[in-house]
Amino acid sequence: MRTSRIPGFYKLSVDERLERVKEFAGLTDEEVELLRRTGALEIEQANRMVENVVGTTELPLGIATNFLINGRDYLVPMAIEEPSVIAAASNAAKMARERGGFQAESTDPIMIGQIQLLGVRDPYKAEEVILSNKEEIIKIANEQDPLLAKLGGGARDVEVRILDSPAGRMIVVHLLVDTRDAMGANIVNTMVEAVSPFIERIAGGDAHFRIVSNLATRRLARARAVFAKEAIGGEEVVDGILQGYAFAVADPYRCATHNKGVMNGVVAVALATGNDSRALEAGAHAYAARSGRYQPLTRWEKNEDGDLVGEIELPVAVGIIGGATGAHPVAKVSLKILGVKTARELGEVMAAVGLAQNFAAMRAIAVEGIQRGHMKLHARNIAAMVGARGETIDRVAEQLVREGRIRADRAKEILEELQRRG
Ligand code: MEV
Repeated sequence: MRTSRIPGFYKLSVDERLERVKEFAGLTDEEVELLRRTGALEIEQANRMVENVVGTTELPLGIATNFLINGRDYLVPMAIEEPSVIAAASNAAKMARERGGFQAESTDPIMIGQIQLLGVRDPYKAEEVILSNKEEIIKIANEQDPLLAKLGGGARDVEVRILDSPAGRMIVVHLLVDTRDAMGANIVNTMVEAVSPFIERIAGGDAHFRIVSNLATRRLARARAVFAKEAIGGEEVVDGILQGYAFAVADPYRCATHNKGVMNGVVAVALATGNDSRALEAGAHAYAARSGRYQPLTRWEKNEDGDLVGEIELPVAVGIIGGATGAHPVAKVSLKILGVKTARELGEVMAAVGLAQNFAAMRAIAVEGIQRGHMKLHARNIAAMVGARGETIDRVAEQLVREGRIRADRAKEILEELQRRG
């Protein structure tokens, strides 16, 4: 059985980890080599991706273990500069396994394209005429991308909104497009530009802004998990987390940090897979404020057994084809490790990782304060910095944490002491 439950993964060397990932995901030797060597993105590839290229920059790519989502095991590649995030996700996913891991679902991958219509004399009449020409608008949109329609995607619907703005009344037309496995911003932008002349003609206004919306409320992913109280440290921990959650519900200052914790996970998966993290961030925070009050992206409660139940819902405008997902060599390997077959599945994994991350952050803060968790890794880094290798890193780090003094001079002393004792 292929399992993502790999105890002690963090203790393995990079090569040993790669071996396990290779086995799990069926990577080729070349793919392993690509991950192993830094600078996998060649300068010429980079030069084709963006403008004015002078170099590339790198982030560590780690693997979150233990994820069981809809009964399937996933190893989750995460690209991030922040320590503790990948360990926290793996740990939360391990705790969730006891009650079956994560249950996730998603809507169809529908993006919204917006057309701002100015100078319309009778907005209600225009609304009526646009809606009665829906079929024609959809037809023009779908002529822009016949392949997408063949793959089961394409423009699906048209909506009209009448808005009062600081510049007066305006009509906003929404084109709803099923972009299948692409993130879809390009497709949608092409379509809204293509249908605009027709809409101008029938509605009698000027199409001004024509652009995708990052508030992808029609492209949502949800995940749910039950954390058994015994698995997470007992009733007190459950209650402690719920108090912290209530803080986020009541206070936007806490809520921004709460949601930042969620996005630590979501964005790390996005960066690993070559997705647009800004689009995800914009969508997530706007979605969190959709009621007019900025709220947590997750919901937490206690069930009748006293276990902690968490849910997340967020927009996930992500793709597994097109853009950097196909152009960046590491993104391609990351997608292979994940083994997701559709963009929807990728969104569901991201939702599960976001929920896990949020749980882990709240648990750490509730139980021991965030710094202690960070300390361990920091101590390991210091130990390695002063020359400790292999198991000695852990022994030096443990001593540093025990003493509560994470300093290089002390690490050196401890290392020398251990070396003297052999
Ligand atoms: C740090 O990157 C994220 C946290 O601040 C999230 C939270 O406070 O819930 C730990």
